[in-house]
Amino acid sequence: MLRLRRIAQLCWLGMIAVGLAMSDTSAADEPTVAASAYSQFGADTCLTCHADESTALLFRGTHGQRRHSAGPFGAQQLQCEACHGPGGAHARRPAAGQARPAVVSFGAASATPPETQNAMCVSCHRSTAQHEWSGSSHERAAVPCSSCHQVHASADPVLARVTQPEVCLGCHARQRHEFALPHAHPVRQGKMACTDCHGAHGTTNEWDLVRLTVNDTCVSCHAAKRGPFLWEHPPVVERCTNCHQAHGGVHPALLTQRAPFLCQQCHAQTGHPSIARGPDELAGAGPSPYLLAGSCINCHSQVHGSNHPSGEQLTR
Ligand code: HEC
Ligand code: HEC
Ligand code: HEC
Ligand code: HEC
Ligand code: HEC
Ligand code: HEC
Ligand code: HEC
Ligand code: HEC
Ligand code: HEC
Ligand code: HEC
Repeated sequence: MLRLRRIAQLCWLGMIAVGLAMSDTSAADEPTVAASAYSQFGADTCLTCHADESTALLFRGTHGQRRHSAGPFGAQQLQCEACHGPGGAHARRPAAGQARPAVVSFGAASATPPETQNAMCVSCHRSTAQHEWSGSSHERAAVPCSSCHQVHASADPVLARVTQPEVCLGCHARQRHEFALPHAHPVRQGKMACTDCHGAHGTTNEWDLVRLTVNDTCVSCHAAKRGPFLWEHPPVVERCTNCHQAHGGVHPALLTQRAPFLCQQCHAQTGHPSIARGPDELAGAGPSPYLLAGSCINCHSQVHGSNHPSGEQLTR
């Protein structure tokens, strides 16, 4: 069968085939699967039993298009079996009393191990896998490609910025909570996607961030905070998340705490040079300027750093 020409590497694990169409492996030393392992008429065989809404959607999506010559429905490709593996035995009527042999099936609840599921996708999406996916936190946690991607769909929700967060938050419950807090990055509003900050398939950076560090990620949008400043504030240089929640929180400006408590985590209030207690307070009639709304930031407004020649105290 011509369709089988592209099969170069195949290993048989019970009913499961791993890895198709590896163009740069030599065909000579590869085991092959008997053509009879595949259904006789490709998708036409499968569709005799599986012509439903789900397969109709597949043909509306990218993978169902014949114009992608390297896609499952390109000429000489394996069609349904490019993803579901050889289905010849599955497509035949099982002998009396016997179960229908399984094919590769997808999703977290599938009986097919995630590695095997992913190998089906990676057989074509090799560069995606090599350059990004391999070693990512999702790969290590054995998350199947199909937990994020839908292929029996006219459009894959994880690929559109507006619908993507819902896919991710389906597993990341703590983050769902964070983004629902009153002060959060506008992800739920569809103005930002998780992938503005995180690599979808993983990166070599901490937390799979798109940039090398937390700060590089933040200042890619908040350029005014980039520095270097004449007068730096060390915790800002170190990590924006010393003071801000990355996703969202209960305090304005996504702060981890309100001032003055925020500042007092590191700065002792006692002995503050300029805060002589005012006459009102001495008389017991008014609060220290420390405790007014905005408190420390009323005076130290340049909390991210200052370029003013006399901005050493971050007051201007
Ligand atoms: C003769 C009818 C028949 C044909 C032909 C057939 N299937 Fe199935 N298929 C079934 C039935 C019935 C099930 C339900 C599960 C079972 O009984 O094993 C099923 C289940 C499946 C499942 C698993 C669904 C799940 O939730 O686990 C997949 C995937 C699948 N078939 C794909 C295919 C593919 C690909 C082909 C073509 C190679 C094919 N089928 C051909 C009858 C058929
Ligand atoms: C590009 C890979 C790919 C191709 C090609 C493909 N499938 Fe699937 N199939 C999947 C994935 C992944 C799922 C899990 C649901 C999803 O992601 O949409 C699935 C789910 C299924 C299911 C079970 C669940 C459901 O949604 O009904 C059946 C049955 C099935 N496919 C049959 C087929 C048939 C028949 C064909 C050919 C007409 C086919 N598939 C082609 C990847 C593929
Ligand atoms: C037979 C080869 C083949 C297999 C197997 C395959 N794909 Fe694809 N895939 C393609 C081609 C070809 C395209 C479209 C052209 C391109 O992006 O280069 C594509 C496109 C995609 C896209 C982009 C879709 C879009 O609408 O832009 C995603 C996501 C994807 N595949 C995921 C998967 C997943 C997940 C699996 C396994 C369940 C899988 N693919 C299996 C060949 C394949
Ligand atoms: C954690 C969710 C997630 C998982 C798991 C995942 N993807 Fe993706 N994938 C995405 C997102 C999100 C995008 C869109 C990327 C963007 O917009 O920056 C994407 C894009 C793609 C694309 C199209 C763009 C490209 O990079 O060529 C392909 C193909 C693809 N993924 C294949 C795969 C394969 C194969 C696997 C499994 C080995 C996989 N994905 C696992 C979320 C995921
Ligand atoms: C504005 C950038 C940004 C956006 C948008 C974003 N994240 Fe994050 N995320 C981060 C940073 C930075 C961290 C590092 C941990 C920290 O400092 O809180 C992180 C950490 C994480 C972690 C690891 C948490 C831990 O403690 O191990 C998960 C999971 C996560 N993000 C998921 C998501 C999801 C899901 C979305 C979309 C709904 C998303 N993130 C959107 C910046 C972002
Ligand atoms: C099927 C469930 C599932 C889906 C869907 C999912 N994740 Fe995850 N994610 C996990 C698991 C499991 C881990 C590893 C364990 C952990 O850290 O919670 C993880 C880890 C992460 C981490 C932490 C990385 C680190 O270094 O600590 C980030 C960031 C992340 N996911 C972002 C995303 C984004 C963005 C999406 C959507 C594009 C997404 N996830 C979709 C299950 C999922
Ligand atoms: C992809 C662009 C982008 C990235 C990356 C990004 N932000 Fe944002 N940030 C925004 C947008 C958009 C808003 C909402 C602005 C608005 O509503 O006016 C925002 C809002 C904020 C606010 C609240 C502003 C206010 O006035 O309440 C803070 C604080 C903030 N971001 C800090 C961070 C930190 C810290 C990081 C790194 C973890 C980061 N941002 C990464 C785009 C980004
Ligand atoms: C030492 C604590 C601290 C650190 C570290 C810090 N910030 Fe802030 N940030 C604040 C405070 C306090 C506010 C509120 C200022 C106000 O209300 O005027 C703020 C406000 C913001 C705002 C919204 C208002 C504005 O000025 O635009 C953005 C955006 C922001 N910070 C981004 C960042 C980025 C990016 C980093 C890392 C480079 C960072 N912050 C590091 C304390 C900090
Ligand atoms: C994570 C710890 C941390 C937090 C939180 C923090 N700072 Fe700082 N701050 C420092 C360090 C470290 C220095 C440098 C001290 C030095 O050089 O002696 C500094 C320096 C300063 C200076 C300059 C004084 C000097 O001695 O150079 C001012 C003013 C200041 N911080 C105000 C604030 C304010 C206002 C806040 C709250 C919005 C705040 N800081 C939050 C750690 C922090
Ligand atoms: C009424 C205005 C005002 C308020 C409110 C204020 N500061 Fe200051 N702060 C100053 C001035 C002015 C200086 C510089 C004094 C000097 O050089 O003698 C200063 C100096 C500092 C210094 C440097 C101390 C040193 O030893 O050089 C730190 C740290 C500091 N403030 C932190 C804070 C924190 C934290 C808060 C809130 C709890 C706060 N300030 C509230 C005006 C203020």
